[in-house]
Amino acid sequence: MNVLVTGGTGYIGSHTCVALLQAGHTVVILDNLFNSKREAVGRIEALGGKPVRFVQGDMRDSALLGEIFAAQTIDAVIHFAGLKAVGESCAEPLEYYGTNIGGTVTLLEAMRAGGCKTIVFSSSATVYGGQNPSPFREDMPIGQATCPYGSTKIYIEQILRDLSAAEPDWHISLLRYFNPAGAHASGLLGEDPNDIPNNLMPLISEAALGKRSELVIFGSDYDTPDGTCIRDYIHVLDLADGHIKALARAAATQGCETFNLGTGKGLSVLELVHAFEAATGVKIPCRIGPRRPGDIARCYADTTKAEQTLHFVCTRSAEDMCADQWRWLTAGKE
Ligand code: NAD
Ligand code: WQD
Repeated sequence: MNVLVTGGTGYIGSHTCVALLQAGHTVVILDNLFNSKREAVGRIEALGGKPVRFVQGDMRDSALLGEIFAAQTIDAVIHFAGLKAVGESCAEPLEYYGTNIGGTVTLLEAMRAGGCKTIVFSSSATVYGGQNPSPFREDMPIGQATCPYGSTKIYIEQILRDLSAAEPDWHISLLRYFNPAGAHASGLLGEDPNDIPNNLMPLISEAALGKRSELVIFGSDYDTPDGTCIRDYIHVLDLADGHIKALARAAATQGCETFNLGTGKGLSVLELVHAFEAATGVKIPCRIGPRRPGDIARCYADTTKAEQTLHFVCTRSAEDMCADQWRWLTAGKE
């Protein structure tokens, strides 16, 4: 298939582009480089073994989208582009609604005009909110968003379900990612944001590199075995493989389907720190701090539907994730 990948130079998008090329697809990337770098294109091509077409631009630019769809047949879209910082979304809600929701609607209009009705969308486990118990299942009710970022994922999912109900010939896959982490095993591709990282793995990495003096663990008094929060950390390469399977399924299936992409196994903050230390031999200076508002004690996936329908199973361990992250951060940089 010829696949348009919005946000394709970003963290998850770049790894998915490599997997697409390796699976025999061709790739057109649309990214405005707000949170990624041009260099990712060359890295994707080197690892994927084939060239990609890169368009630097904004998904809210409907004229540009029209040009992309006019210039070639796009068989499917994988839609990663968007803003994703939870805290920033509380301070700048209009930016988040405008980019994530406005951008998605503009993209969908351009797809319809261009005759492409297959889309795989990056949703998030955040849509389950704090009320549902883990493991989260796709048929659980959507939760209450704790920030505008989370609201954008809930609204976009609803827009796509509404579209599918009104126009049944769309092929839509909503992928709810849990906690993506790690990097390409080659050490050539990984998370390379332009902003300050907020997620645990990049913050552990910064503490390991001495870029920050310590990792502050947000609370050790949760109702979990070691008192720290439990999350479902999925290797970014497993996540990329999940997109290849979801794309094949969406292409073959009319309607709108939802899948969790996680490992199904919860890991506490302390367990991830220890896995990182074991994989790298580097000690992480840690301090227990107060709880972070909005955090829930447990968030991990029920993977039954993805296993049974997509035949998707994660194959990489937490240690692989940490070793690959460390290789990306240190390869050629000593
Ligand atoms: P990322 O920031 O690395 O990638 C997003 C890409 O979109 C960036 O390259 C950015 O430059 C681009 N972009 C932003 N606004 C754009 C616009 N208006 N037009 C064109 N391009 C634009 O983020 P990521 O971690 O790779 O996440 C990809 C998707 O997955 C996002 O939709 C995110 O919300 C979702 N998601 C991420 C996580 C996570 O923890 N990383 C978890 C769940 C869901
Ligand atoms: C993981 C755990 C923290 C930093 C977020 C979004 C979610 C999704 C993934 C996009 C938590 C703890 C963290 C630190 C810590 N993104 N922590 N010290 O909160 O599960 O999910 O990213 O959709 O929507 O909310 O991920 O990496 O921020 O935190 O102790 O310095 O690490 O409290 O328990 P989270 P995270």
